Amino acid sequence: MTFFRVENLSISFGGLVALRAINFEVTKGTIFAIIGPNGAGKTTLFNCINGIYHPDQGSIFFKDQAVQGRKPDRIARLGIARTFQNIELFSNMSTMENLMLGRHIFMKTGLFRGAFLWGRRSFAGREEVTHREKVEKIIDLLDLQAVRNKFVGALPYGIQKQVELGRALALEPELLLLDEPSAGMNSEEKQDMIFWIKDIQDELGVTILLIEHDMKMVMDISDRILVINFGSSITEGTPDEVQKNPEVLKAYLGEDDILGDVA
Ligand SMILES: Nc1ncnc2c1ncn2[C@@H]1O[C@H](COP(=O)(O)OP(=O)(O)OP(=O)(O)O)[C@@H](O)[C@H]1O
Ligand SMILES: [Mg+2]
Repeated sequence: MTFFRVENLSISFGGLVALRAINFEVTKGTIFAIIGPNGAGKTTLFNCINGIYHPDQGSIFFKDQAVQGRKPDRIARLGIARTFQNIELFSNMSTMENLMLGRHIFMKTGLFRGAFLWGRRSFAGREEVTHREKVEKIIDLLDLQAVRNKFVGALPYGIQKQVELGRALALEPELLLLDEPSAGMNSEEKQDMIFWIKDIQDELGVTILLIEHDMKMVMDISDRILVINFGSSITEGTPDEVQKNPEVLKAYLGEDDILGDVA
């Protein structure tokens, strides 16, 4: 069984080929980075994986189950969670409430059933306690105690990124997709983010797909890296292999003189 794999994945928007026959495999427990210049197709790849986009061609397998064609909430239920390049949280709700919403897929007492259970508060109450306990663990893990009851919209950008990471973890995913988790952060916040990502890998055993422009971070924490440019795969390998690849330098940096420096 492969933990996660993408086979021959393609998608176009009108005349624009956003992804062209992409192939890769991810081993359980690893950090797999996807890098490439702006507009390369990285976010589009995530949108295909979590069911927001339907690929024109190709397959996506999570623990040998076909993922493509399913709706985003079905894919989340399989154990795939994500964060977004532009933070997607409920800004007029607290950190705690946002994390509780991250657990909605587990709630048996949904809005509809809840209406029939209003006379049996104890069941709904017990369920609520269990969810709160799970969320408390995430608040501890990500050091969010100080902002637990604050409105998310009022928090600094770096903390909002952290809350969004927490919301994704609340789903108890096996595979976590992070779309530029450190974008817009200062170097101290970036260090913290690296620390948490490693923690999530080591302590929770979560497999991570990471889109990130900060090359130092990518080279430091990734087990393997896929490089794409204009929707096509350039290479895939370990950080050492990818760093040495002249095509990567050319595509990613777009600077021939840097190639000259290296040669
Ligand atoms: N829904 C859409 N409709 C039309 N074009 C789209 C759509 N989604 C993505 N694209 C196009 O597909 C290409 C890849 O976009 P994508 O957002 O995946 O790039 P990216 O690698 O994530 O870039 P960045 O590093 O800037 O976030 C771009 O040319 C983009 O304009
Ligand atoms: Mg993107």
